[in-house]
Amino acid sequence: MSQFLVAIDGPAGSGKSSVSKQVARELGFGYLDTGAAYRALAWAVQHLEDFELEQLPSKDLVAEFDYQISLNPDDYWVRVGENDLTAAIRTSAVAESVSAVARIPEVRTFMKALTRKLVSESTLPGVVVEGRDITTVVAPDAEIKILLTASEEVRLKRRSAELSEATAASVKRQVSERDASDSKVVDFMTPAPGVQLVDSSDLNFEQTVSAVVSLIEQSGSTKESK
Ligand code: DC
Repeated sequence: MSQFLVAIDGPAGSGKSSVSKQVARELGFGYLDTGAAYRALAWAVQHLEDFELEQLPSKDLVAEFDYQISLNPDDYWVRVGENDLTAAIRTSAVAESVSAVARIPEVRTFMKALTRKLVSESTLPGVVVEGRDITTVVAPDAEIKILLTASEEVRLKRRSAELSEATAASVKRQVSERDASDSKVVDFMTPAPGVQLVDSSDLNFEQTVSAVVSLIEQSGSTKESK
């Protein structure tokens, strides 16, 4: 990977998607939401023939999962084949079933290669890549590695505000229970060595974006200063 990489991990509701998107805009970088691919695969299991959960470990996903995502922070879309899934992958049905897909080791191996390929195809000077295992597994050599957290209370509140269709019980399933399930596979609650912690519990959106941009500027290794 030759571009400048900013790797951001964090739990559900930490604000990492909207923060990563804004940081990418401010730096003129691409923005890669890696959770979208896990969500799109969970959607495929629910909607497409030939995508049984039990078959995923032996499936040739490189050949059969026709996944495309935009890295443009101002024009975000997600597709599988001819299906535009930009909205469909945000439903409660997908959020509640995605952990079962994400815990399959063969799926994770596929996703790691997919993420690296998408980054390497970008022609922008850098990419902000966000997910759960970016700082530790996918891009441990990224120039900047950040774990973005917030207290559980704050994360539940933020997610409830986003999901008009969801009940309190459903939001809890989509945030706390999903994190508990996901963190059995990768630890995204404690920063690995070399990963900087940003706790956004007491920060608003703009303050969180500034905190991340400051860390990147402080690193002294942005493209301009290289
Ligand atoms: O960030 P998100 O909520 O859209 O992610 C959806 C799911 O994908 C999440 O439950 C865990 C999984 N995921 C993962 O295991 N590794 C990543 N790098 C990104 C997401």
